[in-house]
Amino acid sequence: MPGMAGRALSFGAVAEVYERFRPGYPAELFDTVTAYAGRPVRTALEIGAGTGKATRLFARRGVAVTATEPDEAMLAELRRHVPASVRTVRAAFEELRPAVRYGLVYAAAALHWTEPEGRWPRVAALLEAGGVFASFGGPFRLADPAVAQAVRAARAPFLGSDEIPSPDGTPPEHDMQWPGTELQRSEWFTDVRQSVLARRSTMSAADYVSHLSTVSAYLVLPAPEREQVFHRILRVLPDRVDMTADLTVHLARRRAAD
Ligand SMILES: C[S@@+](CC[C@H](N)C(=O)[O-])C[C@H]1O[C@@H](n2cnc3c(N)ncnc32)[C@H](O)[C@@H]1O
Repeated sequence: MPGMAGRALSFGAVAEVYERFRPGYPAELFDTVTAYAGRPVRTALEIGAGTGKATRLFARRGVAVTATEPDEAMLAELRRHVPASVRTVRAAFEELRPAVRYGLVYAAAALHWTEPEGRWPRVAALLEAGGVFASFGGPFRLADPAVAQAVRAARAPFLGSDEIPSPDGTPPEHDMQWPGTELQRSEWFTDVRQSVLARRSTMSAADYVSHLSTVSAYLVLPAPEREQVFHRILRVLPDRVDMTADLTVHLARRRAAD
């Protein structure tokens, strides 16, 4: 099975499906970030913007967003859905060479794909003194435990978990989760906060499987196995499924000193 590097750049193959079947981000998220900032957020750099689901949240509320993304197919999809004011840059986080600093740097369901080595000095170099870093995302889970168990059993011959393990191994029962844990240890940041915003949805079984087809753990399976696993999952699903996709939000402030 391909490793995490293969998973990181697996999304472009399904950019349109991704855009259609992944949920967007709630207005409450914008409010959470701006309330934390405590001052107007005028400029932002987004890491791993994908098809622009979080780009829209900020750009439509007047923030000048620079959306960066390494995958050209994702970026092409993003350009169809974001206001013309959004600047786009095709680059992985590690390739960014900042010429200016931003009031906000954020990553939506993307930070775990970036290189751990040098991550925080790199983010700090993109931020104004006192600027805000935000990272948010969370696993998509079936709300009904019986349905979730049936799906686990259906995919077991091909795949154990379809979630992403904590990048720094923080156990799920810990109060502070990654990347808050790394931010707390970083000399570059202060005032680290974690909060959770509820995000729920109900969809048809077919749409749920379409959604799964945008999840990296399935994307990197060989095509015949992927087809089989989706077929097996579809067989155990009720007509409609409830999903929880709560967002864990991490916020931190760049220290003033360089
Ligand atoms: C799960 S998608 C999230 C997309 C979008 N931010 C969203 O919330 O819908 C992860 C994105 O991270 C991008 N990515 C992978 N490796 C990256 C890296 N090293 N630097 C920046 N982005 C990366 C992928 O191409 C993909 O578009």
